[in-house]
Amino acid sequence: MIRTILFLITLGVFIPAPSSWGLTLASHPGMKVEEGLVFEPLCPQKRSTPKAPDEYLNRVNPLEPTERNIFAGQTLFHFDAVPGPCRVCHGISGNGLSILLRKLTPSPRNFTCAQAMDSLPDGQLFWIIQNGSPGTAMPAFKGLADEQIWQLIHYIRHFSEKHSSEPSY
Ligand code: HEC
Repeated sequence: MIRTILFLITLGVFIPAPSSWGLTLASHPGMKVEEGLVFEPLCPQKRSTPKAPDEYLNRVNPLEPTERNIFAGQTLFHFDAVPGPCRVCHGISGNGLSILLRKLTPSPRNFTCAQAMDSLPDGQLFWIIQNGSPGTAMPAFKGLADEQIWQLIHYIRHFSEKHSSEPSY
């Protein structure tokens, strides 16, 4: 009997728990208790990220959004950034609905939300990517060259640009 149950579990066949146990709901992938029952990108999103120092806030991206720069940003976002690729938290579509969504409070920024992203200057994004957001899961990416951070910024901005000809993922 035990062997059969173990076998079924290996196959991914789970015995549904009665909803009165609370287990069925709690394991729903869309559930994030602190912010309500959501499985939609949060937009607008509550934001309490520290403000960059003035000398950063005034900086604008010095790089052109060329194919090469966007591609470099895209590669860092999805694979190469250390300590961890951005997509692990911000999601493959940049909307913050990653596999870690339920674990992280505050939630990772939703880059597809133009309402939020349009009000954030390039220099703010630069500062947070370089230094992290203390007390949250957003780490400091100290090992990235300035050029790489600006390439990432071109890439993450494409998520909120409606008529973008840039990559759609
Ligand atoms: C381990 C999870 C994690 C990883 C990896 C991660 N982020 Fe974040 N990021 C977060 C969280 C959580 C927040 C929200 C922080 C807050 O609200 O202060 C955030 C916020 C941000 C913001 C918002 C800044 C602002 O002022 O609102 C930017 C930009 C950002 N991340 C860019 C990146 C980039 C680029 C990468 C990869 C190089 C990356 N993140 C990797 C979790 C992560």
